[in-house]
Amino acid sequence: MDIQFSNLKQAKDAVGIIFCDHNCRLIGYGKKLDLLSKKYLSNTIKSDESFKSRKSKNFDYLIIHNPQNLSFSKLYVFKLKNINNASNRDFQILGGSLQSLVKFYKEHNVIIYPDGINSSKLSFANSTSDMLLGFLLASYKFTKYFSKKGKKKNINTIKIKIYSAQYSRLQKGYETVKAIHDGVTMTRNLVTEPPNIMTPPELAKNAASLEKVGVKVTILGEKEMTKLGMGSLLSVGRGSEHESKLAIMEWKGHKNKKKKPIAFIGKGVSFDTGGVSLKPAGGMEEMKYDMGGSAVVIGLMKTLAIRKARTNVIGVVGLVENHIGNMATRPSDVVKSYSGQTIEVLNTDAEGRLVLADALWYTQEKYKPELMVDLATLTGAIIIAIGNEYAGLFSNNDKLSKQLEDAGKIEDEKLWRFPLHDKFDKMINSSIADMQNISNGRGAGSITAAQFLQRFVNKVPWAHLDIAGTTWSKTNLPTSPKGATAFGVKLLNKFVSKYHEGK
Ligand code: BES
Ligand code: MN
Ligand code: ZN
Repeated sequence: MDIQFSNLKQAKDAVGIIFCDHNCRLIGYGKKLDLLSKKYLSNTIKSDESFKSRKSKNFDYLIIHNPQNLSFSKLYVFKLKNINNASNRDFQILGGSLQSLVKFYKEHNVIIYPDGINSSKLSFANSTSDMLLGFLLASYKFTKYFSKKGKKKNINTIKIKIYSAQYSRLQKGYETVKAIHDGVTMTRNLVTEPPNIMTPPELAKNAASLEKVGVKVTILGEKEMTKLGMGSLLSVGRGSEHESKLAIMEWKGHKNKKKKPIAFIGKGVSFDTGGVSLKPAGGMEEMKYDMGGSAVVIGLMKTLAIRKARTNVIGVVGLVENHIGNMATRPSDVVKSYSGQTIEVLNTDAEGRLVLADALWYTQEKYKPELMVDLATLTGAIIIAIGNEYAGLFSNNDKLSKQLEDAGKIEDEKLWRFPLHDKFDKMINSSIADMQNISNGRGAGSITAAQFLQRFVNKVPWAHLDIAGTTWSKTNLPTSPKGATAFGVKLLNKFVSKYHEGK
């Protein structure tokens, strides 16, 4: 979908969207059009008693057909509630609502008039950008595998125009919006693709495609990783026909190319059968999204590169399939990680931490990053603990945690911090190796998983986001149709732009 910008005017062949406040008083450009229509608009609104009293949960609007003295065939008057206090996220949700409206009425040529839609907290350009972002993100659809043409038809063929007195400023802001949209869309596509297609080598290829936008990409295969001694990551892919990969993406946007990078690390299990510790059949299909962390890192790197983020960033994703097979790792096998520490694998279904262990150690050793943030659909326990609204945050650093939580609040990709403690760490000591991959106690499954990861961060400021509950949504969300959410891309893009650029 493309959005075009132009100066204020009316249009013949398109429908317009204007706005009114909660008292149904036209605001912004709607007021001007009302004058041009010789009060036809405000009189029509006034005569509709129900519009004023209606209190819909989602959003309210009124349609005015062939408004007198104006050239539109149709005008939508969209009611805004409390716009004066609106946040960035409120504007994204507004965009999502406008998208639902346009989709519901199958409109193909739409002009939106944002002038005068002001929040006291945000600039006009800023709020309009977020509205457009919400609109674009809500338009996501994955139609690739429908063989019939009709099903393939999608909303992306509609024309959206923004008419504003400040259109050139809006156009500039739109570059960033497009970069975020491109990254989020890539992440959602990677997660939605079925696991027979989106195998570890295919994920690596997708990471490599970022070369086109200026990211340097290196792919390690099993041979290279064996040489390096990545016995932990490699142990997970042993039951699979598909080769395990480690993809490394480097973006150098800082004027000092030698400045320490910040690093993002993703769990990329293309499908998680559980391995020999096989998962039950019911719901196993959900494990195609067990590569969600890696997809967020790849999509994020794309966004950062397209919008030319002014800092140095490393993305590392561990790509494996956790399958059964005659060479598959057994419960009680002992493997040696890249760090040199040994691990007793007591449950092959606790595989994400085995992948991240080597990816984290490699990242800190090779790139000496200023900080590391990993993302992983790591534990079912995090869903038991906090459901699908928040992702779990685990960290050895208060400042980093605060920045992540803050960025998450702005983007409505919320984080909730959990504790780490030596007492939890002890729970993964093994009787025959340096550690075991599951805890010997009963509770705190997400924390002991994070404690395991912490043994591989070598004291670098680090945060782990357990996104098992937020990567996939079974219901439609305001700016994310049900399915892959790309939770984390917007959050980390904000984290980078707000705290790690321009110094
Ligand atoms: N990929 C799963 C975690 C998961 C569960 C993600 C549900 C999304 C939805 C992970 O590899 C796993 O299987 N974890 C086990 C760990 C256990 C064996 C200690 C779990 O959560 O049951
Ligand atoms: Mn598993
Ligand atoms: Zn898993």
